Amino acid sequence: MEENVAHHTSGDFRKLLVPFVSAFQYEGDEVNMTLAKTKGRTFHEKICDKAYSDDGLIQILATRSKSQLNATFNHYNNQFGDAITKCLTVPEKYYQKVLRLAINKLGTDERALTRVVVTRAEVDLQRIAEEYKRRNNMPLDRAITEDTSRDYEKMLLALMGHGDAC
Ligand SMILES: *[C@@H]1O[C@H](CO)[C@@H](O)[C@H](O)[C@H]1NC(C)=O
Ligand SMILES: *[C@@H]1O[C@H](CO)[C@@H](O)[C@H](O)[C@H]1NC(C)=O
Repeated sequence: MEENVAHHTSGDFRKLLVPFVSAFQYEGDEVNMTLAKTKGRTFHEKICDKAYSDDGLIQILATRSKSQLNATFNHYNNQFGDAITKCLTVPEKYYQKVLRLAINKLGTDERALTRVVVTRAEVDLQRIAEEYKRRNNMPLDRAITEDTSRDYEKMLLALMGHGDAC
């Protein structure tokens, strides 16, 4: 994915994005319980504040390690109830909501939009796009095209698998 991003972007925007994408390459089965507890608590706070597009929250959900994410949600469930279980089983519902809020926001919340597209690109972005279309009666790529421009639009579309549009 780093190569893909580097190929489709330029200048400052590339400088900003490439390290960001690299930072999400971690995968593994080991679980850090201390981290799971801290993140579970953060998750709870952000959900309570309805801060759905908060950086900290998206970063937790962008965790590549399923085991770590599972441990975080287990901790959350034990401590705060079971409301979040659906997030693990159907993350695309959560992400389509983050995208909808980001796109519908006046001026577009580019930070949230970038984070979701970049971090989910190789994970479940296609499913998120399907869920987005189902809920909003508009294809995600069209919503992005209408809301963004130039390099930024190209990069997002490339990550969605529309590389030939560049
Ligand atoms: C677990 O995560 C915490 C917080 O990031 C860190 O301080 C600690 O060193 C980690 N423990 C292990 C065993 O990796
Ligand atoms: C998640 O954690 C629970 C409790 O430790 C475990 O039973 C379950 O198998 C785990 N699921 C995954 C996908 O790791």
